[in-house]
Amino acid sequence: MLIRPRRLRRNENLRKMVRETRVDSSSLIYPMFIKEGAGITEEIPSMEGQYRYSIDRMGAKLEELLNAGVKQVMLFGVPDHKDEQGSGAYAADGIIQKALAYAKSNYPELYFITDVCMCEYTSHGHCGLLKGQEVDNDSTLERLSQTALSHVQAGADMVAPSDMMDGRIGHIRQTLDQNGYEMVPIMSYAVKYASSFYAPFREAAGSAPSFGDRKSYQMDYHNRKEGIREALLDIEEGADIIMVKPALTYLDMVREITDAVQVPVAAYSVSGEYAMVKTASKYQCINEEKIVCEMAASVYRAGASIYLTYYAEEIADYMKKGYIG
Ligand code: PBG
Repeated sequence: MLIRPRRLRRNENLRKMVRETRVDSSSLIYPMFIKEGAGITEEIPSMEGQYRYSIDRMGAKLEELLNAGVKQVMLFGVPDHKDEQGSGAYAADGIIQKALAYAKSNYPELYFITDVCMCEYTSHGHCGLLKGQEVDNDSTLERLSQTALSHVQAGADMVAPSDMMDGRIGHIRQTLDQNGYEMVPIMSYAVKYASSFYAPFREAAGSAPSFGDRKSYQMDYHNRKEGIREALLDIEEGADIIMVKPALTYLDMVREITDAVQVPVAAYSVSGEYAMVKTASKYQCINEEKIVCEMAASVYRAGASIYLTYYAEEIADYMKKGYIG
């Protein structure tokens, strides 16, 4: 036998030397929930180990992330007050705006990305304004732009629209540019499927739709070409980074998009993925550490260069220890 693939698998040094996927913690983004109030560090029931923090408590977590080597944070707001219009999303004293003011002045070494969407702020839980029973695309754009602008004015380093309205990237880009923020990048949740894997997040953020579902704006999970189309459209509109979401059941799309675009691709391992791993490992069905490493490597192998995950801190640690990377 001339050719023996096993020759390169004989010992750990050799396996690491020939490894095709190399990663480091600079690619990680940690999603974090910030809640109105004070003195709150509240565990999310369906996401053991993940918490909602009030602004005065977020510092402790940010320190932990910094120490672990995770320098990017994605902020989600959990407001006290919701209304039809989702006005808390773009209020100057909204939860995210206040959190940014605190976090940016106290943690200048961290990079803050904000989720731009209406669903955490609307009384009906949909990602845009309603016209009857429908989510109205074009009137929502104005609100999304206002939201993105208010985040940037409050100090956001990057905005990440997750609402899935058509044309929102272009609208937000234009608004930011007109206000002198032409250098603030946009990471588009471009390839976002209508997924049941978001359920724990909706509990965490209190953002489940009060009627219907999100299938008229988020994508049908049977579709591949549609995902590529969404990505290309958003790039034309000025998106700097394209995200695929969820990650695990959409690795084919991570690869497709990576091959189809010339911008960095991010993958978001969502709340349901976290909850599955957490719960299965609690019952000792799987080894948490090993599964988390394997899942992370699969995302990078599929082509993503950015990984959003609730396990960011743990993964940074596994990278340091050489379990992955
Ligand atoms: C807001 C938003 C959602 C997630 C990120 N941004 C929920 C949704 O679309 O219903 C999901 C993240 C996760 O499940 O971890 N639109």
